[in-house]
Amino acid sequence: MAERAAVGYWKDNFLIMKITDVLRAEHAVFHNLFDHIEAVAPRLKTLAEVKALAAVVEKVHAPHSQTEDDLFIEPLEPYFDQMGQQETFHAEHEHIEATLAKVQKARTLREAKKILLNAIAASRKHFDKEERIVFPLAERILKAKTLNELGMEWLSRREVEK
Ligand SMILES: [Fe+2]
Ligand SMILES: [Fe+2]
Repeated sequence: MAERAAVGYWKDNFLIMKITDVLRAEHAVFHNLFDHIEAVAPRLKTLAEVKALAAVVEKVHAPHSQTEDDLFIEPLEPYFDQMGQQETFHAEHEHIEATLAKVQKARTLREAKKILLNAIAASRKHFDKEERIVFPLAERILKAKTLNELGMEWLSRREVEK
């Protein structure tokens, strides 16, 4: 029997959360990572260090944005249309990933730092928009049951052991 809780409900010893709360929790980790990168990047001395940091962001960002693309774009598409945001959401993911990938091609330390910090700034702006507009929109439009089902879908995508 599922037990209701403020943040979700328990099923088979798993707390089933709304997908929006799952994504907010992921965002919290990114905010810490971005704070760290912005603090240390100006002091880095080698191109390899900057590229390694960019690769870390790229690796964790890709599955996050892929999940948002797959789980959000379809149900929210008609509303993005109305808001004139139809292309923006997915395009911003691509822009962030392309910018992070560009760091790997940089020839100088200064160029690599600049591109990496641009990617972080673009991500922060994008995350902020999701937190202020997209997640609340999803919570208004989609049923609680659907948000929980998408949360379960996230669990299975992350291959969390049950
Ligand atoms: Fe996103
Ligand atoms: Fe996000």
